[in-house]
Amino acid sequence: MRLIAANWKMNKTVAETEDYLTKFLKILGTPEDREVLICPPFTALYVAGRILKDTPIKIGAQNCHYEEKGAFTGEISIPMIKEVGCSYVIVGHSERRHIFGESDEVINRKLVACLERGVRPILCVGERIEDREAGMTFKVVETQIRLALSGIEGLTDLLDVAYEPVWAIGTGVPAKPEDAVTVHRFIKDLLKEINPKSEGRTRVLYGGSVNPENAPEFMKHKEVDGLLVGGASLDPEAFAKIVNSF
Ligand code: PGA
Repeated sequence: MRLIAANWKMNKTVAETEDYLTKFLKILGTPEDREVLICPPFTALYVAGRILKDTPIKIGAQNCHYEEKGAFTGEISIPMIKEVGCSYVIVGHSERRHIFGESDEVINRKLVACLERGVRPILCVGERIEDREAGMTFKVVETQIRLALSGIEGLTDLLDVAYEPVWAIGTGVPAKPEDAVTVHRFIKDLLKEINPKSEGRTRVLYGGSVNPENAPEFMKHKEVDGLLVGGASLDPEAFAKIVNSF
């Protein structure tokens, strides 16, 4: 099933989350032929989990720590997010990589922990503008994927990948759908080479300035298994339109 995911980033209080989800459920109804995922900030996960409990809409965290518990001030573990209802977690988002200095090694450890503890990670990869201009897009994406999956090659069917070119995130300038499709095809071939079992199981989502107008342009391609939506997912009407864009 294709997956449409909302990444709220550092937005929405508990009250705003309640308000959003009440509206969103009314507009959206209960889609059965597509998976819908919402990733609120940590503080709103509990309430989101309660509101969405008996609906097909899933919740996910935007980050996690790889240890189960201990002296890691400010961190949140996988058992903690699972307890409040998360079945997904976004790992290695470009803002984690570039603002908080998350390395490929840390991303790998997080993926290992997610797979061990039974939460489905969405691994984010994507090139910066200087990589693209230097013709390094494929190389950068390949390196990120190989390092992230190191040691867990046999389990890649248990995760999804989001291709998010860094220059397209939050800029209002999405990738051209045909350019994104080329990278998606490359990622799918690479995943198949790493683990043939991932074919048809590991979805490749596109993310970066997706909105209700351009979503159908991405979703009409069979290589695009879904979308990861930031800014436009903050409005329940806009996000419902994106969910229903194909
Ligand atoms: P954006 O963010 O839709 O606001 O560009 C996407 C993301 O960072 O996942």
